[in-house]
Amino acid sequence: MSKIFYVTTAIDYVNGQPHLGHAYEKVITDVIARARRSLGEEVFFLTGLDEHGQKVQQAAQAEGRDPQAYCDGLAESWQALALKLGLTNSDFVRTTEPRHKQVVQALLSKMHAEGHFYKAVYKGFYSLTAESFLTEKDRLPDGSFDASWGKVIELEEENYYFKLKDHQQWLIDYLEANPDFVAPTSRRNEILGFLKNNELEDLCITRPSSRLNWGIPIPFDPAFVTYVWFDALVNYISVPAAHGDPGVNAVLGKTTNGPTLWPADIHVIGKDILKFHAVYWPIMLKKMGLPLPKQILTHGWWQKDGQKMSKTTGNVVDPIAVIDENGLDAFRYYVVRELDIGPDGNWTDAGFKTRYDSELASGLGNLLNRSLTMLKKYRNGIVPRANNQLTADISLCREKVIESYRKNQLQDALNHITELRWKADQFIEKTSPFKMAKDPAKAAELDSVLYSLVETCRAISVFLWPIIPNAAEKMQAQLGVKLVTSLIAPLEPLADGHVIGEVFALFPRKEEPKKTGPA
Ligand code: ME8
Ligand code: MG
Repeated sequence: MSKIFYVTTAIDYVNGQPHLGHAYEKVITDVIARARRSLGEEVFFLTGLDEHGQKVQQAAQAEGRDPQAYCDGLAESWQALALKLGLTNSDFVRTTEPRHKQVVQALLSKMHAEGHFYKAVYKGFYSLTAESFLTEKDRLPDGSFDASWGKVIELEEENYYFKLKDHQQWLIDYLEANPDFVAPTSRRNEILGFLKNNELEDLCITRPSSRLNWGIPIPFDPAFVTYVWFDALVNYISVPAAHGDPGVNAVLGKTTNGPTLWPADIHVIGKDILKFHAVYWPIMLKKMGLPLPKQILTHGWWQKDGQKMSKTTGNVVDPIAVIDENGLDAFRYYVVRELDIGPDGNWTDAGFKTRYDSELASGLGNLLNRSLTMLKKYRNGIVPRANNQLTADISLCREKVIESYRKNQLQDALNHITELRWKADQFIEKTSPFKMAKDPAKAAELDSVLYSLVETCRAISVFLWPIIPNAAEKMQAQLGVKLVTSLIAPLEPLADGHVIGEVFALFPRKEEPKKTGPA
């Protein structure tokens, strides 16, 4: 069976409610998944939840609940978010599921048997918040630890360690030889810099169950549970294993003939977890005998009004509230338009409103509305047979959009589509169809203008589908066509006599609510 395009998001900790940052990552990953489907590829899109570890155990304790019941409760709101965001995920993993735990344990047993782990005593400082062991390098000049580490305690305990040191040069060489492995380039440089300037510490992969019991039991030593990151990263292969991926299952000693998902084509993650994905994960995979993911695509972080989003100060953007107020498409549009994958972004309600008004209501919505209203007024809503004067612009835009989607440059794709929209606006200004309509001698010319506009709107709807699928579908419904989402199948010209559908405001204006059709 041929390889399926496999794209993942990070799996979120279930220690609170989702915010803009989580929603952003899911939306851009969904756009990538949809774009690849539009390009004719079969896609498997995985998202889900990271349910073990200290953070979750503490959050559950704070509410006086059993951790599993706590996770089950929150998992519902996270799954509701996936629906609300219009995600086309193929599966939703929860790390407390047996199908995941089995794979983690099988891999631990195998790696232990192959001698990749050793047991040692650690004595030193430990951040309960970050669940990590701290070294002298983490100390501030006055000997204390930065507040971001949260509660730091002194600890002496025995644990299992995974040997990383021996693989440092191999990883540097791999990153050098595979320039697209970590994207964008700035993040690749960051990881290379880290690897070249620091000696890798071996990774502690257990926690004593006496101190933390909310984790996957270590199969060869019941006194320990699995460190949450070793558990969480494995989700990217435990789900393929559950679906019968032959390569992953072969490593687990099983023969299956399900779809080939692994290696992932893209892991979409935020910048704060790059080291786990670009250092620990590749070494884990190498030792497991599995190929590395093709790309780790790293996005930046959102702030709100120039400040870190924080629940304690109430400075958060609730994606559900934004969607309830403005619609899903407006939210998806805004995050893709505003923030390229890589740099950090800043959410302001004013910025959101400006783009909504100028780019969606007055921009896209207005182009469609003007074009279809004229067609109704001058041609009874019947598309005339005529010449499409914007064919070359549409073709050029299609090429650029395809290239941008292939490179995961979603903001660029949107910018190219916006250029085509401007072309159509200029075309209306230049040809003045409302004047032509007054002159019967210009009937054929008017046919051509109206036809060109309708075809341009249709092309735009196809190009936009991965980003704003509902709006694209509404555009096509208004155009009276059956849904087309393929970027590669040629768009057959509309038939002579084609009748458009009902016309309504695509993005109703906020100030002066207009009478709108079905939303
Ligand atoms: O790190 N802006 O989970 P998490 C943009 N469970 N992205 C943000 C963000 C913000 N303000 N805040 C968080 C974890 N994110 C682990 C992942 S993967 C095997 C395990 C992103 O809930 C963050 O960068 O803390 C990460 O990619 C994702 O949300 C989940 O963060
Ligand atoms: Mg986090």
